Amino acid sequence: MLYIDPKTCVDCGACVAACPVGAISKDSKLAADQLPFVEINRLFHEAHPGASRPVQAIVPSLIKLAEGDTPLRVAIVGAGPAGMYAADELLKQDGVEVVVYDRLSTPYGLVRSGVAPDHQMTKGVDKLFRHIEDLPGFHYALGVDVGESVRHADLAARYSAVVYATGASEDRPLHLPGANLPGVSSATRFVAWYNGHPSYDNVDFDLSHRRVVIIGNGNVALDAARILTTDPSELAKSDISDVALTALRQSRVEEVVLLGRRGPEHAAFTLPELVGLMARRDLQVVVASEIPPAPEWADVQLRHKLDLLRSLPTSEAAGKGGRRIVLQFWSSPTHLTGQDVVEGVNIRNSATNPTVDDGPTHLSAGLVLTSVGYRGSLVRDLPFDHDKGSVPHQSGRVDGVPGTYVVGWIKRGPRGFIGTNKSCARETVNSLLEDVTSGALNAAPAAGHLPTLLRRWHPDSLDLAAWRRIDEEEVALGLLHGRPRVKKLSRVGFSRGSEVTR
Ligand SMILES: Cc1cc2nc3c(=O)[nH]c(=O)nc-3n(C[C@H](O)[C@H](O)[C@H](O)COP(=O)(O)OP(=O)(O)OC[C@H]3O[C@@H](n4cnc5c(N)ncnc54)[C@H](O)[C@@H]3O)c2cc1C
Ligand SMILES: NC(=O)c1ccc[n+]([C@@H]2O[C@H](COP(=O)([O-])OP(=O)(O)OC[C@H]3O[C@@H](n4cnc5c(N)ncnc54)[C@H](OP(=O)(O)O)[C@@H]3O)[C@@H](O)[C@H]2O)c1
Repeated sequence: MLYIDPKTCVDCGACVAACPVGAISKDSKLAADQLPFVEINRLFHEAHPGASRPVQAIVPSLIKLAEGDTPLRVAIVGAGPAGMYAADELLKQDGVEVVVYDRLSTPYGLVRSGVAPDHQMTKGVDKLFRHIEDLPGFHYALGVDVGESVRHADLAARYSAVVYATGASEDRPLHLPGANLPGVSSATRFVAWYNGHPSYDNVDFDLSHRRVVIIGNGNVALDAARILTTDPSELAKSDISDVALTALRQSRVEEVVLLGRRGPEHAAFTLPELVGLMARRDLQVVVASEIPPAPEWADVQLRHKLDLLRSLPTSEAAGKGGRRIVLQFWSSPTHLTGQDVVEGVNIRNSATNPTVDDGPTHLSAGLVLTSVGYRGSLVRDLPFDHDKGSVPHQSGRVDGVPGTYVVGWIKRGPRGFIGTNKSCARETVNSLLEDVTSGALNAAPAAGHLPTLLRRWHPDSLDLAAWRRIDEEEVALGLLHGRPRVKKLSRVGFSRGSEVTR
């Protein structure tokens, strides 16, 4: 949510045109389902009158490379938001070249393989990434798994600095009895599957039962619940994977229950996501039991969230029929039941207040998804904090490995929005630039024309032109079918400059 102070704004409208995700809009031009944000904004600013806010447009300080220097060449590992924002920050400097590596043949990380297909506006941040790709000094080496086909020592020998932006793509495991039963999976896998991530195109989800239970109630759980309950003919207008669309067309799922182990005041989904969900006319959103009034300590946003939850019908009061999402609180799963396949979840009422009513203590389900957060995976050759699932660092500088930096989810853990990675990238790049200024980093160790060197170092990798061809082909296919794009391509079969084949 954005508030533009009318006393300061000169109303030139440039921000409206520039915002890559179309997030800036005049209140008079909001669609009906966005109108609740006017009131949410009003309440917020009423509660925080004149609060000082951080400066939004910080002008980067420019560093000066020594006269006649070869360029400062930086390898960025990971082409998700954090990697792209880091490239953007670095390319504000003169004499810098970056090579963005990704293990996949397609860039943009979770913007492509995480953000839900029914949130196409959010995926529109790719317009900003295209702009970054066009900056002088930007290069891709896609389809290169760093740590496998190329090691950290190779990169360190060829570049002045290496920035890891590898994200946090693993599940946080939930160790419950029965968790290994067929029919128990994770939202991480489900999300990657419906978004056409090439490593998940042959996983299966049993959608032949009436109910799915999701453990956890963060925004990812909400995404998965929406995709399971949205009319497939609507999803067919998005860039959802064809494999998932076919399966969802045959789905018998009518109800998705989200289990939160704590009360609604601690629900992990955010207010804008709840507003968006409640605006949906094609599915019912209900609560498993009455929601108590907001606690004393609740701030204005939380009060609003709880008011919205209190306005929802309970599952008992709501009529039957149609697809629905049930929000159930104070419910800790104790084990997953079933002999050969999962049949349901046993639940313990985890309310501290014994008078608080919980939902049912056993829920039958044909599919159970755990959605209890993501986790970073070990980055080969770097130190790793196994408890946090991230790389230990000081302001982005990796502990004990000079010239090596981290940014994004592998630095901060799996929290925050796409935009959060912008300020995170600024911090890391500022550390890197300080190290240039102090003489701790050398100019590019390997001399030569970078595109030529890249062809020699990674002959099978894809460059920007190759990615643009894939992109054009996907978008063109999408146009034929009334979709933003058709992700028909797997990792196998891409090659530099060739026809793109499956
Ligand atoms: C399911 C889901 C939905 C989300 N939806 C939204 C949303 O709607 N709005 C929003 O603001 N935020 C959303 N987020 C949060 C947002 O996606 C993250 O903040 C952001 O993607 C983190 O950026 P990152 O670059 O650190 O990681 P990632 O986006 O995960 O990018 C990491 C990249 O590194 C690459 N990589 C990993 N290992 C290697 C290796 N060894 N060698 C080479 N490349 C490698 C990966 O292939 C990937 O491309 C969502 C998150 C999830 C999980
Ligand atoms: N539309 C969007 O903007 C969007 C979409 C998707 C994701 N994201 C962002 O991406 C990040 C990750 O989202 P996420 O949903 O994966 O994580 P999350 O917001 O951290 O939610 C994790 C959920 O799992 C629960 N949980 C954790 N451990 C548990 C356990 N042992 N037993 C039962 N429940 C457990 C948590 O409950 P407790 O709170 O009780 O720990 C919480 O409900 C978030 O910052 C999110 O906002 C944004």
